[in-house]
Amino acid sequence: MKRIPLIAGNWKMYKTTTEAIEFASAIKRNLYQINPELLEIVICPAFTALSDVSEVICDSNIKLGAQDVHWEREGAFTGEVSILMLKDLNCKYVIVGHSERRTYFKETNEIINKKLKVVLKEGLSPILCVGENLEERENNMTFKVLDDHIYNGLKDISSLELVNLVIAYEPVWAIGTGKTATPQIAQEAQGYIRNLLNNLYGESISQQIRILYGGSVKPDNIRELIKQPDIDGALVGGASLILDSFVNIVKYSYDEVKNICMDY
Ligand code: 13P
Repeated sequence: MKRIPLIAGNWKMYKTTTEAIEFASAIKRNLYQINPELLEIVICPAFTALSDVSEVICDSNIKLGAQDVHWEREGAFTGEVSILMLKDLNCKYVIVGHSERRTYFKETNEIINKKLKVVLKEGLSPILCVGENLEERENNMTFKVLDDHIYNGLKDISSLELVNLVIAYEPVWAIGTGKTATPQIAQEAQGYIRNLLNNLYGESISQQIRILYGGSVKPDNIRELIKQPDIDGALVGGASLILDSFVNIVKYSYDEVKNICMDY
């Protein structure tokens, strides 16, 4: 079973619409040669820029993602954005349960579970973020946290609904700190996650689900990360805001995936 690697840029709360249009156009110009059947590229601008960026990339090999979504299809939820609104803008991916949302906006596994369900139901791909913080790692609780995020995040979601799911292992201690997990640490956690998916959904499904790594990914560490058997790409924060960095992360990944056989 072949998993197509994916490099996603999470722009977080950066770039005005004007800046986003210019940046997306530059990414498109620099990465037109990447074959999307070998490597997928996704950019996740802020909500305010989604519509314009969608137009910029509509005829390209770059796909659009959102950084969050509400769990209801519509309703009286002032300030929120629904999955139908995202779908209408041609979004294909939605980040769900990012650690910044868990920490600053108190998102629980229960909320994340509801968001995953609405994204999957509408046929988009959620990128479910999971991972431990520094204290949890130092107290040897990494696997326990992953159990909690995976089992409770995916509660009552059947294997039939799962087709589009992507998981991102983002250890909180590596986000925006410049401290990347070593390829071995990331592989250990991601192998563990695949094992959990195997317990939940069986071998054939677990082998189809892409697991990304996120946390201080840069052009100089992506090659070793993406070589690992359970690292199917990256969710990039800071480095996705700088043209050269993002372009090189994609290009170096592309070089590697052309060499790696991901058949199982
Ligand atoms: P950095 O790449 O800036 O560490 O951020 C990672 C992240 O949070 C991506 O979602």
